[in-house]
Amino acid sequence: MSKSTREIAILTSEIATQKKASSDEILTLLKTKEVETLFATANAQRQKKFGKTIILRGIVEFSSFCSCPCSYCGLNSLNSDLQRFRMTESEILNAIKVAYQAGYRAVVLQSGEDPFYTGDTLSAIIKVIKKQYPDLILTLSVGERSTEEYKQWKKDGANRYLLKHETANPIIYKNLHPHANLKQRIQHLETLKSLGYETGSGFMVGLPGQQIEDLVEDILLIKALNLDMAGIGIFIPHPKTPLKNVPEGNPLEAMKALSIVRLLMENIHLPSTTSIETSQSTHFYEPLSCGANVIMKKVEPYIYRKLYEIYPNPNLKETSVEEDRITLEHYIKSIGLNAF
Ligand code: 5AD
Repeated sequence: MSKSTREIAILTSEIATQKKASSDEILTLLKTKEVETLFATANAQRQKKFGKTIILRGIVEFSSFCSCPCSYCGLNSLNSDLQRFRMTESEILNAIKVAYQAGYRAVVLQSGEDPFYTGDTLSAIIKVIKKQYPDLILTLSVGERSTEEYKQWKKDGANRYLLKHETANPIIYKNLHPHANLKQRIQHLETLKSLGYETGSGFMVGLPGQQIEDLVEDILLIKALNLDMAGIGIFIPHPKTPLKNVPEGNPLEAMKALSIVRLLMENIHLPSTTSIETSQSTHFYEPLSCGANVIMKKVEPYIYRKLYEIYPNPNLKETSVEEDRITLEHYIKSIGLNAF
C-alpha cells in the first residue's frame, strides 16, 4: 500500500537523522509518489551542509580513445564511426587555464581508458597543473589503472578520483562490460580510498534488465563504501552502440535515487548529471532542489566537446567557457543559490 505524505515525511526525516535505511525503506522511497516530500527533505539536508553554495566543476575531456567495449557508451572501442581525438599536453594545460580564468576552482581530467597517456605522461601533466594552480582541486577520471599509477598521481597532487560502478548488479555489470567485472571495480574504489583520494562512484538508471531493487543495491553500495562523490544519471541510448534501441532511463527515478543518497550521506558531493539535464522526457524537478550540490561543465575547446560523445546531447552549443560559466551562474542565482 502506498504511504501518505505524512508517513513519507516521517520516514525521510528519520533517515536524514539516523543516516541509515533498510532495503525496504529505500524501496518504499524509490516507489513513492510523494516526491515533493522526499525532495524537500533532501534539499534541506543539502542546505544544512552546503548552504546556498553550488559547486561548479570544469571537465576537460582530453581523449576519446578507449580500449573498453562497454555496450552503452558511444566511445566504446568497437564504435568505428567515431572520429577520435587526443589533446596534447599543451592543449590540456590551456583548457585548464581557460577554466581557471573563467572562475573554476575544481577541474576533472577525464578520458576513455587510453594507455597512450602513460602513468608518467599524466604524472607530468598533474605536476604542472598543481604547480601553476595550487588552489585548484584536481580530479582524475581515466578508468581503471594500476595501484602504482594511482599512488604516483596522488603524490603528484591529484585530489580526487572518479570511477563509476555503473550498476551494483554483477550480472548486468558483466553483460555491459564483457571485459571486466564488478568485484574488480569495487576493489579499485577501495584502493583509491585507501590511498587518500576523495573517491567518487555513481551509476546509471534505466539499464537493460535493471530492476528497482537493483537501485537499492546501488544506493547501499555508495553508502557502504562511504564515497565522497556520486554521479547518478540515466542511461541514454547511443545510436552507434548495441543498446541503441533500449529506451532512455527515467529521470524522476534517478532524482529519487539521488535524493535518497543525500538523506543517507550529508557530506557527499552529488552532481546534477548532464544525462538528467539532457533527458528528452518531460520532468518538472530540478536536481539542485533534490539534493544535488555540484554542476559539471565541459571546458575543452568546442570541437572536442562535440567529439566526446558518450551519448547524443542535442543541448550542446558552440559557446565559450566564459559564456557557459556566466549563464550557469545566472541560472543558479535565479533559483536562489550561489555558484562557487
Ligand atoms: N548514457 C548515460 N550515461 C552514460 N555513460 C556512458 N555512456 C552512457 C550512456 N549511454 C556514463 C557512464 C560513464 C560516464 C563517463 O558516462 O556512467 O561512467
